[in-house]
Amino acid sequence: MDRACSHDSSRCCADGQTKDLMNQTLPPLGLPPKTVIDVWRVELDQPPEIAATLDEILSAEERERANRFVFARDAARFRLGRAMLRLGLAWYLEQPPREIRLTTGWRGKPRLADPSELHFNVSHCGGLALIAFTTVGEVGVDVEALGRDVEAVDIATSNFTRNEAALIASAPTPEEQVLLFLRFWTRKEAVLKADGCGIFDGLDSVDVSQPAANLVRLREGDNIESGWLVRDLNMVDGFAGSIAAPPGDWSIRKWNIRCEDAIRCFVARFPGEL
Ligand SMILES: CC(C)(COP(=O)(O)OP(=O)(O)OC[C@H]1O[C@@H](n2cnc3c(N)ncnc32)[C@H](O)[C@@H]1OP(=O)(O)O)[C@@H](O)C(=O)NCCC(=O)NCCS
Repeated sequence: MDRACSHDSSRCCADGQTKDLMNQTLPPLGLPPKTVIDVWRVELDQPPEIAATLDEILSAEERERANRFVFARDAARFRLGRAMLRLGLAWYLEQPPREIRLTTGWRGKPRLADPSELHFNVSHCGGLALIAFTTVGEVGVDVEALGRDVEAVDIATSNFTRNEAALIASAPTPEEQVLLFLRFWTRKEAVLKADGCGIFDGLDSVDVSQPAANLVRLREGDNIESGWLVRDLNMVDGFAGSIAAPPGDWSIRKWNIRCEDAIRCFVARFPGEL
């Protein structure tokens, strides 16, 4: 581990058995341990000099996509999030970020173009992004802002499973109904994003009313059963988050990544790349 990256105060907290990484700014270089999912929390609204530095590692296609956003703020957030994803992939794969080729899989799930044990998934909400990296298997992450005005019971009744809709309707207050709705929503999106299908097949294709449950989703058309384990993430105030991956004894390491620290570590390890 580079000395420049290990001096800092608490930026990581671990769920489960992983507890030895509290004093590092970035995770150790190289692939994460086989039973771990690393989740990076990244602030997408950064000062121009940080954004400009990170911009260097975007591909031509990503720049083009950024140029298609209507609002400059959305474009800047996309660029920052994509650059931090590339920086993370480069860190774990120990490969220069510009050499990392991304493609999209079934229904648009971004993935590495070259074969690798490393899987990732991204979710953003306003100025916040969560990026999950793991060798556990396919992974899905979702984050949503709390405190929104949502027609929780109506939406759940028309889109969720009957069981989920009944649980939401029976929550004691409207506020608690919304909280439960958002909790179920993020679990569903995490599972559907791990699977790669997105919400295309319907939000009622999986029941997420039990936390940390082994969930079986039957893909329409091909009769393939895919099982997922979903867990709630409590890493951010004011947001609900969930993560899904194949069932197993995995734990989550949560990293509060500061872009300026990440750049510093990165430049020390890959001089000339940023
Ligand atoms: C993927 C999806 C769940 C995103 O939900 P969201 O809450 O709006 O957004 P999030 O911030 O949580 O996630 C967005 C990220 O998910 C990832 N993503 C995109 N498609 C994905 C998929 N099919 N599976 C998993 N992840 C996906 C991308 O990294 C994207 O970020 P990016 O646009 O910066 O690259 C939603 O767009 C969806 O269901 N799409 C279904 C696929 C679809 O209908 N495609 C249309 C062509 S068939």
